[in-house]
Amino acid sequence: MSYQTRTPEFWEGRYQEGTDRWDLGQAAPPFIRLLNAADAPPPGSIAVLGSGKGQDALLFAERGFEVTGFDFAPSAVARAAEVAQTRGLSAQFLQRDIFGLYPEFADRFDYVLEHTCFCAIDPAQREAYVNLVRSILKPQGELIALFWAHDRPGGPPHGTTPDEILRQFTPNFEPAVFERAQDSIASRQNEEYFARFRVKSVLPTGKG
Ligand SMILES: C[S@@+](CC[C@H](N)C(=O)[O-])C[C@H]1O[C@@H](n2cnc3c(N)ncnc32)[C@H](O)[C@@H]1O
Repeated sequence: MSYQTRTPEFWEGRYQEGTDRWDLGQAAPPFIRLLNAADAPPPGSIAVLGSGKGQDALLFAERGFEVTGFDFAPSAVARAAEVAQTRGLSAQFLQRDIFGLYPEFADRFDYVLEHTCFCAIDPAQREAYVNLVRSILKPQGELIALFWAHDRPGGPPHGTTPDEILRQFTPNFEPAVFERAQDSIASRQNEEYFARFRVKSVLPTGKG
């Protein structure tokens, strides 16, 4: 199971079979809440990792963000691009393995967005995933995330915990917000964590 999820074939198979049950058929409610809030992040360039059928990416496109969605499952990328076109939204969807985005996209984005991507990554690759997120963000960049975290065995598809998320990200990121999500859909109540993690600034050499 673990190694399989590293391949586009595994994910493409789920989309082809129609067993992509993670897809909400709409943008995640915590992201809608964020963009409607007084402290909503101002529009900028945003990379959506594991963008699937583009539900969240297109919400941000609608709100004026310059969106690039990355996913390695071809039918998900095609579907996202098709919906963008139908809705007249400007967003780019690229069929790419996210682990190959550096150095091409180094320091490129104001934001990275992720939703059920960390938990889809093989645990052995998670440190590399955090480094990848850091590497494509600008020095003042921010990760906006909705992590699906539960410690039941298996799923989704590997599972994670709030402790693991903080342990993996805090060496590189300041957790400005990390809280149990409000507005989760019923089947994910109390299992989602909403995060805004800012890139940690590097101290000048010799100052600690
Ligand atoms: C659980 S799904 C979540 C999709 C979307 N974020 C959503 O919430 O509907 C995980 C997605 O990540 C993609 N993915 C997993 N590993 C990837 C990788 N190494 N490179 C690119 N995409 C990847 C899969 O193809 C799948 O679309």
